[in-house]
Amino acid sequence: MSAPNKSYDPVEVEALKPEEIERMRDEALAAFAAADSLDALQEAKVAHTGGTSPLALANREIGALPPHAKAEAGKRVGQARGAVNKGLATRQAELEAERDQRVLVEESVDVTLPYDRVPAGARHPLTTLSERIEDIFVAMGYEVAEGPQVEAEWFNFDALNIGPDHPARGEADTFFVQTAANGGSAAGDGGTESGVVLRTHTSPVQIRSLLDRELPVYVICPGRVYRTDELDATHTPVFHQVELLAVDEGLTMADLKGTLDHMVQSLFGEGMKTRLRPNFFPFTEPSAEMDMVCYVCRGESVGNPDRPCRTCSSEGWIELGGCGMVNPRVLTACGVDPEKYSGFAFGFGIERMLMFRHNVEDMRDMVEGDVRFTRPFGMEI
Ligand code: PHE
Repeated sequence: MSAPNKSYDPVEVEALKPEEIERMRDEALAAFAAADSLDALQEAKVAHTGGTSPLALANREIGALPPHAKAEAGKRVGQARGAVNKGLATRQAELEAERDQRVLVEESVDVTLPYDRVPAGARHPLTTLSERIEDIFVAMGYEVAEGPQVEAEWFNFDALNIGPDHPARGEADTFFVQTAANGGSAAGDGGTESGVVLRTHTSPVQIRSLLDRELPVYVICPGRVYRTDELDATHTPVFHQVELLAVDEGLTMADLKGTLDHMVQSLFGEGMKTRLRPNFFPFTEPSAEMDMVCYVCRGESVGNPDRPCRTCSSEGWIELGGCGMVNPRVLTACGVDPEKYSGFAFGFGIERMLMFRHNVEDMRDMVEGDVRFTRPFGMEI
């Protein structure tokens, strides 16, 4: 084995010549610049910084140099390799940033794109409002009670103390149902003799509840009812009511009032209250119309032309429905002793409440089934 060649001149070692080292460095930098993807850069990295890259091979040559030449050659190669590593890191960062940007663009979702899916359905606002009201009472221990829409006249009228000559029993208000038992096709009497009607209110469910249940009775009766009204902005021949009945020992009008106040506060917010105005219903005695404070102006529009209120027509109150203490004759008809028990009841229309609660101006919108009407109420199911 020959000894180190003391007179060895590094300039004579081809791979360590300054211009060679510069060329290797520049080739590496050019290859990095030309790499247009992270994969291509990886290849260039192996080729120009790996163990068999020209600079690595040149580095190995240093060991064979005489000591005095080692430092200079080492410095030259080291600087070149430093520049190459720096160039590699810079290009790597650039390509990674480009990739991240591309991924952001490619994987972004254009939320403005129109979609062609069949929209999910939702229940009608009348249903959800009715259920919201039911929930208030279920939370107080009431039961939801339902009954038939095709009803016996006795339940719809007689048991409720609505006598045979009461105007509501006439054809002007009530849909009578022709039945096979009453001659079926026997035209002319409009079926008024059949004793069967489309219920005109949900009060017959009160009668059924009193007959079916053990006392005390606390029921809330939602449902569809029918009256011979023409469909217009404020009437529809088919509409919905929620009616409440409580029969127990010692119930008074104070209980009725407290229950009404609780309901309007639950539905319309803190501080709401109701007022009762004398009225007449055959099935309650005493009877009253119930109003609630206008939930929009809270009465502040009254006598204040600067602050008119569309919701209550600046009257400060909104009429809700009817109420009263159950007439003892109704209790008797259901086999309940009016000496021992008393009760209260109230009823109101859901369409009307939906109108003033949500500023619906035309009742026809509620029956036409156009999703443009129902959609703003949300997709509650
Ligand atoms: N049933 C009455 C109606 O349809 C409303 C009502 C219910 C009134 C209960 C008083 C008590 O108009």
